[in-house]
Amino acid sequence: MALSVNRALVLILLILDAIALKAYSKYEGDPKFMKSGVKRNPQNFNIMKPKEFAEDEESSTREFVSSANPDLRLLNFDEDYDFNLLPPRKPGQPVIVNVSLNLRNVLQVNEITQIVTMEISIRMNWFDKRIRLSDHALAHMHDDEDFLTLNPRLGRHFWIPDIFIDQAKDLREPTFHVLPASLRVHRDSNIRFAARVNFDVACNMDFRNYPGDTQTCDIKFESFGYTTRQLNFNWHNSSNVNENISLAQFDLFVSMNAGYDTDYYEMAYPGLILTLVLKRKLSYHVVQTFIPSIIYLTVSWLALFVPPQSIAERLAMAMTIMLTLTAMFASERQSVPRVSYVTHLDVWMLTCVFFVFVELAEFTFVLHLAMNHKERLTPWVESTAKIVLPILFITFNIVFWYRVLSERMSHGV
Ligand SMILES: *[C@@H]1O[C@H](CO)[C@@H](O)[C@H](O)[C@H]1NC(C)=O
Ligand SMILES: *[C@@H]1O[C@H](CO)[C@@H](O)[C@H](O)[C@H]1NC(C)=O
Ligand SMILES: *[C@@H]1O[C@H](CO)[C@@H](O)[C@H](O)[C@H]1NC(C)=O
Repeated sequence: MALSVNRALVLILLILDAIALKAYSKYEGDPKFMKSGVKRNPQNFNIMKPKEFAEDEESSTREFVSSANPDLRLLNFDEDYDFNLLPPRKPGQPVIVNVSLNLRNVLQVNEITQIVTMEISIRMNWFDKRIRLSDHALAHMHDDEDFLTLNPRLGRHFWIPDIFIDQAKDLREPTFHVLPASLRVHRDSNIRFAARVNFDVACNMDFRNYPGDTQTCDIKFESFGYTTRQLNFNWHNSSNVNENISLAQFDLFVSMNAGYDTDYYEMAYPGLILTLVLKRKLSYHVVQTFIPSIIYLTVSWLALFVPPQSIAERLAMAMTIMLTLTAMFASERQSVPRVSYVTHLDVWMLTCVFFVFVELAEFTFVLHLAMNHKERLTPWVESTAKIVLPILFITFNIVFWYRVLSERMSHGV
């Protein structure tokens, strides 16, 4: 009688296991569940400068200066204006460009390719005393208007800071009909160029503490051609971050660091750093990995309460749980690149599998005792396993969570 109850219990567990196994293996192969990279257009590598500006235009500055060009009637350029030359500056001092940034969204964090996709508006302000609003323009402006907004295409006739994004893989402009950019000329010759861009940028990630990890991405905006003696960038304090950015997996913290000079060439180039700190939300993994694996381990531990006579049922229980855990961890592992070091998730997985392995070893040992007619040892082995395994698992949990959480705290966010 007792034996058939055991059999029924084991059968139910087997069926549950089979269902779980199937569910996990569905995740494994299905491309829907894989975090695929963004589709990229390899031709699209232009950085910061919208296509129109990058184009090699026939029209020279001289032609632009001719008043036959209606655009030009609005502006007065110095006689010797040349957009190759830096705006006039005091001797020994660089041209100062105030840069402010509006982080609109972080669209995707791809851990496999270690690429972050985001959308920003970038605004640059500088003085170019060679360009002034003409009387014609002033006549068309109200007294309370401080600037004139020009078509951003005209930017190709202006000197514009040659800013680019370091390690950007792709850059897109979310164009509707007109470029999402603007060019303003203020009454005091302050020029402002603004553009909305959407780009993918590489971010080095470290998964040692996965899934309790915190990733720090430095996005560097640099001048390509000018040295710090010619040009300098300042983060203007009007930069802001959309407070409603919500990432499924991360909490986001943003900071902007000014005064960064590249130091990998003999000359220093000015740059600015936007730092994204991505702190992974643990709750998803607690629900998806940690609690289920604790439940599976508990079930496998319950197999110790099945009488030693039903050794086949015991083995079946432990084996299926081992398979379930393996399938589950394989699907979990897909959200992390194949790093060579051991992550905290790996430690957890291997420990869980090891506990089930110890139980399997215990069953085999009990079987061995029975076959060698040493049954009197069996109750002792059984009760020791029943007590020692949970204690070991709880100890492991304390150490594990202490490590994960203390490392998480050490990032200070
Ligand atoms: C840059 O910002 C500083 C401080 O707000 C301001 O004094 C300076 O005039 C700005 N420069 C330009 C070129 O806009
Ligand atoms: C920017 O800084 C200036 C002085 O440093 C301050 O007066 C101004 O309120 C700040 N603006 C913002 C938006 O924080
Ligand atoms: C963020 O969302 C709240 C509520 O949906 C809204 O009131 C607020 O204006 C939003 N903030 C921004 C910067 O969009």
